[in-house]
Amino acid sequence: MNKRIITLKKYGAYARFHIEDLKELAVFARELLKQLKGGDVLALSGELGSGKTAFTKELAKAFCIQKIVTSPTFVLMNVYAFSKKYHGALRLCHIDAYRLKSAKELEVLGAEEYIGDSATITVIEWPERVKGSFSKDALRMNFKIPKK
Ligand SMILES: Nc1ncnc2c1ncn2[C@@H]1O[C@H](COP(=O)(O)OP(=O)(O)OP(=O)(O)O)[C@@H](O)[C@H]1O
Ligand SMILES: [Mg+2]
Repeated sequence: MNKRIITLKKYGAYARFHIEDLKELAVFARELLKQLKGGDVLALSGELGSGKTAFTKELAKAFCIQKIVTSPTFVLMNVYAFSKKYHGALRLCHIDAYRLKSAKELEVLGAEEYIGDSATITVIEWPERVKGSFSKDALRMNFKIPKK
């Protein structure tokens, strides 16, 4: 099953996207990228395997980052430099907070330096684990595998 439902929420407004497969996910990531700028934070929630890392991979590809984004579940945080400046951003910071218990643990990783930084676009998987570590202005993205 390759279908996913992605719901975006910002400032109380919602938008829902039905994604049929990885190809559509790539198109979705490329389109969303046009709306992003340095300092943006994307908070990705949703069950295990719902496609948060797969989306981040497509976003990274859209930024022309050569290094493949692997699931940072064991690494917790990866930072990828862009080949050139994009809407004020120079890098993508990918955080997987699945194994973290609090925002305090993110500090230990040195993530504060990146989250909300004007030259960084940050993607956080499992944001509910690290509440308070990023602004309320973050773009909330919920990933769902539709039940038939
Ligand atoms: N349309 C789609 N969107 C996203 N992922 C898809 C889609 N179709 C298939 N997949 C597959 O589903 C799997 C999603 O796994 P992924 O690691 O991205 O989930 P995750 O939400 O990051 O999980 P975790 O919470 O464990 O980090 C991948 O193998 C991906 O290739
Ligand atoms: Mg993941």
